[in-house]
Amino acid sequence: MIGKKMTDALNLQMNREFFNSRLYLSMAAYFESLNMSGAAQWMAAQAQEETGHAMRLYNHLRERGARILLAAVEAPPTQWDSPLAAFEAAYEHECKVSRQFDEHMALAQSEKDYATIVLLQWFINEQVEEEAPTDAIVQKIKMIGDNKGGLFMLDRALSERKTKG
Ligand code: FEO
Repeated sequence: MIGKKMTDALNLQMNREFFNSRLYLSMAAYFESLNMSGAAQWMAAQAQEETGHAMRLYNHLRERGARILLAAVEAPPTQWDSPLAAFEAAYEHECKVSRQFDEHMALAQSEKDYATIVLLQWFINEQVEEEAPTDAIVQKIKMIGDNKGGLFMLDRALSERKTKG
């Protein structure tokens, strides 16, 4: 059985992850509007992974006999000033999510909830894997600057992203 505080925290995070999925799908739609289909595909793959994160939390709550509570998901932004602004927003968002998981881990440790600690360890590793490539793309777009050819090449490279499943 899982404690009330931990249940509330994981329900909150599950709902946040559903928001994350919608945020990235909204970024995918933004890139579609710019005819940057590679970046759109990259963001759509990220959206799919975020749903996977939500379901990982859902399944943990289910397996621990907790009451799962789905909440309303707020509407994500729909517009960014530039491809750079969108990827910067994605990177900043992932840094925020990393801090959220750090807080959950601190709670799990104080509650001595070892099963949740194991689950959160996966998420903390996953956050490292999410921050690094997003920041790398930000740096590449900064390097490319106003070079349309460079942006075209980057868009093509981004289309190669596959979901982890
Ligand atoms: Fe599931 Fe990218 O946070």
